Amino acid sequence: MLLAHISDTHFRSQGQKLYGFIDVNAGNADVVAQLNALRERPDAVVVSGDIVNCGRPEEYLVARQTLGALHYPLLLIPGNHDDKALFLEYLQPLCPQLGNDPQNMRYVVDDFATRLLFIDSSLPGHSKGWLTEETLEWLEAQLFEGGDKPAAVFMHHPPLPLGNAQMDPIFCENGHRLLALVERFPSLVRIFCGHNHNLTMTQYRQAMIATVPATVHQVPFHHEDTRPYYDMSPPSCVMHRQVGEQWVSYQHSLAHYAGPWLYDENTSCPTQER
Ligand SMILES: [Fe+2]
Repeated sequence: MLLAHISDTHFRSQGQKLYGFIDVNAGNADVVAQLNALRERPDAVVVSGDIVNCGRPEEYLVARQTLGALHYPLLLIPGNHDDKALFLEYLQPLCPQLGNDPQNMRYVVDDFATRLLFIDSSLPGHSKGWLTEETLEWLEAQLFEGGDKPAAVFMHHPPLPLGNAQMDPIFCENGHRLLALVERFPSLVRIFCGHNHNLTMTQYRQAMIATVPATVHQVPFHHEDTRPYYDMSPPSCVMHRQVGEQWVSYQHSLAHYAGPWLYDENTSCPTQER
């Protein structure tokens, strides 16, 4: 298994920029080109929400065109910037697992050594996240059904505060209900989120919990300053790879940079130099 996990694309309508100056559509098209050019090809690309910025049909049109150019299956979930009905209408063709009910988008992918559980943590009209009773019941049933097989949850909002002064007020407000499932089900070993536009990792019991960077604009981690900063620090995604018994996740840069070069010990410490 190799999953390329991107997040928070925040597509805008054609010709529109984010905040008037960030060309997210061009940035995301570049990310798609980079992923398509990978020599070690992912089995799927995960996009963990905030696929568009304002929940508008014109934005979903651009998102569908751009993400539809990926050469891999897509595994999608919505975020707080998404509109559930439009998300499903425009993006279900790219991810049939989303089903037909915009109020209950969730699905399991059981093709790998770890079961992948995708859930919708968005709450209409709010930036914070919320897990419905239906979602929690479905998760519990999936975890029962999976038995001892390891499971990973993908959702937009992190289920607990991470010490990020700007983002903590809008985490998944009833995420403790998911943490209770972590306590009950030793098989639940990973929870991967978007939302924070920042690579952040923590752990709750046996479960590693992480938020992954955004594809274009990032949010700096400040513990004390609550003001809503964003920046254009280099974007990256996270690769999730099964390595023997281990699920390994690593950062993959989406910036443009020099290299790579092949290491050569003769140029590392030349004998004629002092
Ligand atoms: Fe976002």
